[in-house]
Amino acid sequence: MAVVIVVGVQWGDEGKGKIVDLLTERARFVVRWAGGANAGHTLVVDGKKYVTRLIPSGILRSGVTCVLGEGMVIDPAVLVEEIRAFRSQGFIKKDSDLIVAERAHLTLPHHREIDRLREERPGGIGTTKRGIGPTYESKAARIGLRVGDLYRPERFRARLERHVAAIAPYVRELGGAAPNAAEIASSYLALAEEIRPFVGDASRTIHDAVVRGENVLFEGAQGVLLDLDHGTYPFVTSSSTTAGGACAGLGIGPTLIDHVLGIAKGYATRVGDGPFPTELSDATGELLRKRGNEFGSVTGRPRRCGWLDVPAVRLAVRLSGIEALALTKLDVMAGLDRVKLCVGYRLGGRTLDEMPLDPDDLAAAEPVFEEMEGWPDAAAGAVPPGAARFVARVASLVGIPVWATSWGPGRLQTVVEHNPFAG
Ligand code: IMP
Ligand code: MG
Repeated sequence: MAVVIVVGVQWGDEGKGKIVDLLTERARFVVRWAGGANAGHTLVVDGKKYVTRLIPSGILRSGVTCVLGEGMVIDPAVLVEEIRAFRSQGFIKKDSDLIVAERAHLTLPHHREIDRLREERPGGIGTTKRGIGPTYESKAARIGLRVGDLYRPERFRARLERHVAAIAPYVRELGGAAPNAAEIASSYLALAEEIRPFVGDASRTIHDAVVRGENVLFEGAQGVLLDLDHGTYPFVTSSSTTAGGACAGLGIGPTLIDHVLGIAKGYATRVGDGPFPTELSDATGELLRKRGNEFGSVTGRPRRCGWLDVPAVRLAVRLSGIEALALTKLDVMAGLDRVKLCVGYRLGGRTLDEMPLDPDDLAAAEPVFEEMEGWPDAAAGAVPPGAARFVARVASLVGIPVWATSWGPGRLQTVVEHNPFAG
């Protein structure tokens, strides 16, 4: 019996979906606590590819309930599309297979519009344009609308009127059309009917499940380095992506959490703007992008690729209290003669063990690299010695064990040293 939080320790796209899918074999609930349709988790089962954006990766397992927690921002149009798609493929058989938190906030059409318009101007940061930042802005400004409002139509309409009055001047200033409250109300109240069977109190449900002794897995979206408070601000997402964010986002006390695991890629990627000291703008970067299929699963944008940044991983491990790491996509690196690891930074005559977060320091800091021998393609189930040395080196530099390595997108292409749900 365990309650486990899994987070990505880089800038997202660490292959979390696949590792979470594997762990859900023993989980009763899989919970997301923050973010929204900016996420894109790719799962490959029996050669078939599934992408989830709002629904957690547990959706393909029968007996697992997927939970969209209170701290999330939910675009009902995307959610309904996702529910329909999974239903038509034989998943979400029962209403109890999915819980949508009634206190989660709603992304409205003009939130997406604001996000897009801002990205088209100078000063954009390369967001996914899914309205994530603007939805959280409305929430913090206390003019947001929540899932539960949808089922009290009079209240929904009244709050929406006030919301639109508050936000319309800003949308117009950006060059957008003023939102039409009546149109939004009619389309959202219609979508609400398809979501109704799933709406509930996620926080209470998970609390009670934990007390009963059920296995619960918290699935982080994005990555720790994109955290609003502790990431590479302002090039971050607008929510808490650290393990602590799970407690705040779902409304669960930290004393109920048993383990925190991190997932890192054997190399690093970043999509969108912002500092990336180990970025490769050469043929090796191109090779990693092609072999790793490093294109955004939501936006299709090419991801920037570079070497694994140990000081950045150390920072993420500290921020989230991570006990062990999974290293993914080691198959993508196979065939390289030599591989590099960034083991520290030099800044003004000092050596730093963690990535500095002040933007000027980060721009001035020089990564210190260590080179290692590469490895050939792995035969099924066997880790090539070169890769084993790389994995051991990462574990010793970061100071925590590597509990799994991943060699391809399929469920069976994973070597697990220790399953946290297995006692
Ligand atoms: P937003 O979350 O759409 O506001 O985007 C803010 C930053 O986070 C941008 O750099 C995005 O590319 C990045 N981002 C957001 N979600 C993900 C994700 O799921 N994977 C990788 N990057 C993400
Ligand atoms: Mg992704």
